[in-house]
Formats: sequence, structure tokens, C-alpha cells
Amino acid sequence: MYFNFREPIPINSNPGMVFAPRKFTTILDVARFAARLIDAALDHKDILNRKALPQERATSREPGQLLCMAQYYRILEASRLPGKKRDSQYVGADMRGGGQVSEHVVVICRSQLYCVPVQAGDRGRLTEDEICSQMLYILDDAPCLSSPPPVGLLTGWKRALWAEAREDLMKEEQNARNLDLITKSLLVVCLDEGLPTNFNCRLQRGGKGHTAGPRDETNLAHQMLHGGGTIHNSANRWFDKTIQLIISGDGACGLCYEHSNAEGVAVIQLVEKLWNHADSLPAHSDVPATSNSHIPPPERMEWILEATDLKRIEEAGNVLDNLIKDLDFQVYRFMGYGKEFIKSCKVSPDVYIQLALQLAYYRLYGKLTATYESASTRRFRLGRVDCIRSATPEALEWVTAMSQPKEDDLASKKVTFHLVSDEKKILLWNEAVSAQTSEMVDNILGQGIDIHILGLREAARETSPTASTPLPKLFTDSAYRIANKFLLTTSQVATNTDSFMGYGPVEDDGYGASYNPKSDCIIFCLSAFWSSEVTSTSRFVQSLEESLNAMQVLLTRPT
Ligand code: COA
Repeated sequence: MYFNFREPIPINSNPGMVFAPRKFTTILDVARFAARLIDAALDHKDILNRKALPQERATSREPGQLLCMAQYYRILEASRLPGKKRDSQYVGADMRGGGQVSEHVVVICRSQLYCVPVQAGDRGRLTEDEICSQMLYILDDAPCLSSPPPVGLLTGWKRALWAEAREDLMKEEQNARNLDLITKSLLVVCLDEGLPTNFNCRLQRGGKGHTAGPRDETNLAHQMLHGGGTIHNSANRWFDKTIQLIISGDGACGLCYEHSNAEGVAVIQLVEKLWNHADSLPAHSDVPATSNSHIPPPERMEWILEATDLKRIEEAGNVLDNLIKDLDFQVYRFMGYGKEFIKSCKVSPDVYIQLALQLAYYRLYGKLTATYESASTRRFRLGRVDCIRSATPEALEWVTAMSQPKEDDLASKKVTFHLVSDEKKILLWNEAVSAQTSEMVDNILGQGIDIHILGLREAARETSPTASTPLPKLFTDSAYRIANKFLLTTSQVATNTDSFMGYGPVEDDGYGASYNPKSDCIIFCLSAFWSSEVTSTSRFVQSLEESLNAMQVLLTRPT
């Protein structure tokens, strides 16, 4: 599913995550924070090397069942690799049998890539102080250099074109070595500049949440998703790398991650651990005590580039800039209530929010659409996700009832509508909740349909006698196409820290909608494309707010 995708991966595939901004006073604070995150990642890698990650179990719906842990072992020291027809991946643990120490991380600052060793030949792992010195060196060095060719932009290009460009780059031994170092690094750290406040000029609706100076959460999320374009931080990325930690001089912090190796749940678990470690240490940033250290400065990667390479970098930058310009994205903190209120209504918060999204969509378009919600299938070995299809007939009955005009509207329009009583709406609500809950539980227990059908389709492809042999009718029927055109792509991305994750839409005329239910609020990230004539995240947010409010009124009405 991921590797056959040929479009650029920023926005279209890589999610972005925003953490609570930090207060940095000097570049020493930035260096210290980066060093702490890397130090924590090395601790975590030690645990992975010992295969000592605690085994997780399901906490509800058949509680106690073992959950597959494979994704956790494939996040660090991992990278996606472009292919002309199909991408592939590098996972250090798979390639080397695991259990090996990581040698280096890659740090990008002002589009300049540095290889930072984390092991010293004479005494093993570097201390946090030593890593901090390396970060300080980079933060001093990079601003003094003339702008390097922004090679990282190639990773945000169409995959086949990037594969071709990479193949040519590899012909030079030095480039091949750089690419190998990036691929095999533990992770990438991007030391960014903040985006301008007017990068996304819309006023954010709902709660304000995090701000980095005057920058709102929507602005912060843009930085994490794509970097802000060639004139900002998009060249300060390596979008193929599974984990890119982003630390910006103005305090904005987050993550951009390459999705093919793992779902958000595994990635969030790792990065929250790193952040909690960095936060748990005293805020002050001592100058690193490195007097006894003889660690050479980090290696700045030099590239040998031909005119064709430079042309390709420019083209990749144009493609990415256009993609970014087209992204209509909004973070929306709904402050009316959160999962505690929903639980008090004796409904699963996830089911409730899915139905709110259905109602919001129906109110805008007068119909429902194929909806994708990711359901974890980690109860099965190597399980990733299946698809909870939330647009059920029961949901349609309920949203239709909820969208009947009020009596006074009727009077002014002089039209006769069939009014639905609150009792009837509650009855339909209960049926919609029950259908959605079964759909959700079926999926997480392995009774979903989408992965099975996908398996059949791929089996049909693999066993077809020739490439031109048509697929079985099931896969060419228009019903199959409609059912798989997900104009609403959603997922719950729950976090334990005050952070949230968002992603782009998967269809030209569709919405991406992630949500993070907190006790007393719900953080949504809504995305669409400006070039679509039918979508608008502003209108969707408005409709969602009205839907969530209407649902509360219905469920708390006096009986
Ligand atoms: N009445 C009261 N409380 C209820 C309830 C009910 N009828 N049903 C559930 N709850 C409670 C649960 O006990 C749980 O309580 P807790 O917060 O104390 O643990 C809470 O509500 C949340 O449960 P629910 O909303 O049902 O959702 P969930 O946490 O089980 O998640 C999925 C459901 C489908 C999102 C989850 O199983 C899943 O698959 N997550 C992965 C999604 C994913 O892959 N995202 C990343 C994509 S990149």
C-alpha cells in the first residue's frame, strides 16, 4: 500500500506531530534539548537491542490478548528507499539481526546535513554533554556557511523521479556514502527556524492550545508536516527517514514520520518517551563539560552534484512548494467537552466522534461518503490496521433525522417536512452507536473486510498469467471503486502528553481528519486541498462544531 504510492510523501503520506513548544533562551538550550532527546533515543535503542520492551496487552474488548510488538522494533535506524516502480525499506535490526549499537545520528541545520557520531572508538557511547557539544558545533557552523544545495528536497519529490535521481547521485562514491549514512542513522534531528506568523493567516477556531510566540497550532502543524516550503524548512528534512525530530529556534517542537514502517501509535509511544525524558531534567542548560573529550567535530556532508542534479533539486522544490500551497489545513480544539462527558453518556468516545464526523459531513453535503477509520490489528502477528467503515446505514438514518430543519424554519420557508421527535432521534442514535461499535470491535478482533479483500486482490495480481489479464470483476466493478474512494479518512491518534498528530487528505476532493480525545476537549486536525471545489476545512470545522454541540443537547435533554 505504501511502497506502490508514487506521489511525494510529505503531506500525502507522512504525518506531522506537534509537541508543546519549549522556551529556548540561547542556542545552548536548543543544543541541550536535542542532546537529551538523542540520549533518550540511545537508551531506548539499548532496550530494543536487548529485546526487552515490555509486552503489551489489549486493555479492553477481549482484554489481556497479546499485542504484536514488531512495529516498535522497526522505527529507529530505519528508512524508506525510493524505487522506480516500487519503494523498499531499510531496517537496521532486520538487516543486521538487531542487537547492535547505533553509530550515528544525522542532524540537519539550514539545509546542511551533518553526521554526528554517538559512539567513540575508545570508550563507547557518547555522554549527553558530548552530544550537546556536537549540537553546539552545528548550530555555530551552519549559519556561517553559504547555502548548500538543498539535496533533502529530493526526498519530497515524486518517488520514481527521486529513485532515478538517487541512482545517479550514487555514482559518486562520496554521495553514495552520504546516502548510506543517512539511511543507516538512528534518526534525523532537524534544527529549524520558526515559520512566519502569516504562513497560515486564518484565525484558528476553538481553543488556542499551544502557541510559540504569536504562532498558533495550525501554523506549528504546517512546520511539522512539510517544513513550510523551500524558503523555510522543507530542505531541512529527509522525508524518507522514519523518525525526524524537529526542534525550532523559536521553541516549536515536533516530529515528521515516514509511515510505511509503523502506525502512529508505536511512533507516538517512542517520541513521548523521549520528550518526557528531556522534560524531566532540570530546565537550565549547563555549558557542556567537554574538556576531557577528544571527539572530532561532526562531519558535514559534502555532495558532488552535476547540473542535472541541481535541476532535479529545483524541480523537486517546485513540486513540493505547489503541494504545500494547495494544503488547506486546520487544527481545531473543540473545548465544549471531551471523553469524560462522552463516557458519562455510556458511549465509546471513538464511536461518538466517528458519528460526529458523519453528521458534520452530512450537514455539508446532504449525503454520506465512504469513510476510513484505522483500526489496529496488533492482536495478530505483524498486524497493522484494518478499516472501520463508519458510514453505516444506521448512521445515515440518524444523521438524516438530526438534520431536519427546526419548526420555525419550516414556518418561514412554508415547506412541509417530516419532523423527527427527540425520542426518535435517540432511538436512531442508539442504533447508530450499536452499529458503529460492532463495526469497530469486529475490526480490532480481526473480522474486518478490507485487508482480506486487499489480500485477495494482490493474490489475483500475483497469480494472473500475464500482466494484461484483467482482475476478477469484484475489483473492477464501479461499486468497488466507490467503496474505496475515501473522501473522509480518519483516525484516532491518542497521546498521553499535550501533543497531537495530523496528516493530509488521501483524495483530491476529500478530507483527512485525525482526532485526539482528551478528558475535557478534543483536538482535531482537518485537511483538504484548496484546489478542490468541494472541500473547505473552515466549513467542515464549523459543521463539526455545530454537530458536536447538537449531540450534547440531544443527549442531555431533560426527559
Ligand atoms: N461507556 C463508557 N465508557 C466507554 C464505553 C461505553 N460504552 N466504551 C468505551 N469506553 C471507554 C473505554 O473503557 C476507554 O476508557 P479509558 O480511557 O479509561 O481506557 C475509553 O472509553 C476509550 O475507549 P474507545 O473510545 O472505545 O476507544 P479505544 O480507546 O478502544 O480505541 C480504536 C478504539 C479503534 C481507536 C482503537 O482500538 C485503535 O484501533 N486504535 C489505533 C488507531 C490507529 O491506528 N491510529 C493511528 C493511525 S496512524
